[in-house]
Amino acid sequence: MKRISIIGAGRVGLVVAACFAKMGNKITVVDIDEDKIAEINSRVSPVAEPGLDEILNQSEIEVTSDYGKVMDSEAIFICVNTPAKKDGSISLENIVAATVQIGNILKSGGGYPLITIKSTVVPGTSEELILPILESSGKRAGQDFGFCVSPEFLRGGKGIEDFMNSARIIIGEHDTKSGDMLCDLCQVFKAPIMRTDLRTAEMIKYASNIFLAAKVSFINEIGNICKLLGIDVYEVARGMGFDDRIGAKFLNAGLGFGGPCLPKDLKALIARAKEIGYEPRLLEQVLSLNERQTLKVLELLKRHIPVRGSTVGLLGLAFKPGTDDISDSMAVTIAATLTEEGAKIKAYDPLAMHNFKKLFPHVECSTPEEVLSCDAVIIATEWEEFNRLDYKGKIVIDGRRVPKAREARVYEGICW
Ligand SMILES: NC(=O)c1ccc[n+]([C@@H]2O[C@H](COP(=O)([O-])OP(=O)(O)OC[C@H]3O[C@@H](n4cnc5c(N)ncnc54)[C@H](O)[C@@H]3O)[C@@H](O)[C@H]2O)c1
Repeated sequence: MKRISIIGAGRVGLVVAACFAKMGNKITVVDIDEDKIAEINSRVSPVAEPGLDEILNQSEIEVTSDYGKVMDSEAIFICVNTPAKKDGSISLENIVAATVQIGNILKSGGGYPLITIKSTVVPGTSEELILPILESSGKRAGQDFGFCVSPEFLRGGKGIEDFMNSARIIIGEHDTKSGDMLCDLCQVFKAPIMRTDLRTAEMIKYASNIFLAAKVSFINEIGNICKLLGIDVYEVARGMGFDDRIGAKFLNAGLGFGGPCLPKDLKALIARAKEIGYEPRLLEQVLSLNERQTLKVLELLKRHIPVRGSTVGLLGLAFKPGTDDISDSMAVTIAATLTEEGAKIKAYDPLAMHNFKKLFPHVECSTPEEVLSCDAVIIATEWEEFNRLDYKGKIVIDGRRVPKAREARVYEGICW
């Protein structure tokens, strides 16, 4: 049993805490949000992750705002958020604040703790920013403490499953002893481990997410051409997917990608590349093609109804099925544009309406039937229950390929 501290009780921090607790370690979680701490201490997870509540209930996990409790930890994982700034770069304010606190602990504490960055940070951040803060304590990485970067690849809504059965664990190590320490901690999870240097580990995270984003923009571009040529892009993708150099996943043409990670990571690497004097043309195209897909759905809508003065139904608000997360969700951009252009909106989502209401208090959140009674309906998330609705007699613009929606009186798929 090891004493492990997790800094940041968000989706990543709680999943990491729960999985290390399940493996028999003693866990302390530190956060600055007192409301969140109270919620977790009442054994309710503030994030919807299957299996998390059960582990929180069964395990001895201490959740606190007191950084003093991190003292004497053998391993510390930094999992705070690194949100996007307006210019696309990431804000490092939280990770700096957390690092300063850990530096103070290093100064007064003993032992040889291993400090690992799990937050997503652009290549170079750990070496150029985090490490100097830690070493300003007077202690040296590789002599007094271990230092690694181990980016997290879990998917929202599948966090525990993904962490327990990870496709790979990437360990960026400051020195061999630090890497050995993290390998030792992680080998219980039985995933392939790749060891590398700090900035390569940081880049692997960005390159992986951006590759997925590029795959989506690629198939959307092919889909847009297919629609004009009368070809079914889903058949094309099926044919491509047999080739294991290509792979069948992330080839569902439609509205594009959203969520807390892909758009943020893409914008952050674009900003980092520009900062060091490189014009990342492909990455910029991946982003602008994604933004264009949202406008395309509105173009298709306008072929059938005038937007100003109409009531438009939005089916699906979350960025993907199975979550209440609306970060960078396509539905948000669609709703903002429709509002700007003078439409009234009625919206439905099985999980995300409470979050949507905070952004769009004027939007009527309603039942699927009410939404279907609008002048036209846009499907923005592929929830399974949307495939059981009655679309007969309706005008439907489908951004997500819901088979049943084809029964509509007027049916337009975005790329088909
Ligand atoms: N959400 C995902 O699916 C996912 C997947 C892989 C990687 N990531 C990355 O992991 C990091 C964390 O993501 P998340 O989704 O868990 O974020 P989150 O917003 O859900 O949680 C972050 C937590 O950190 C806390 N925090 C902020 N500053 C702090 C400080 N100084 N001390 C202690 N706690 C502090 C916040 O209060 C919050 O509870 C980000 O860099 C993100 O890009 C996220």
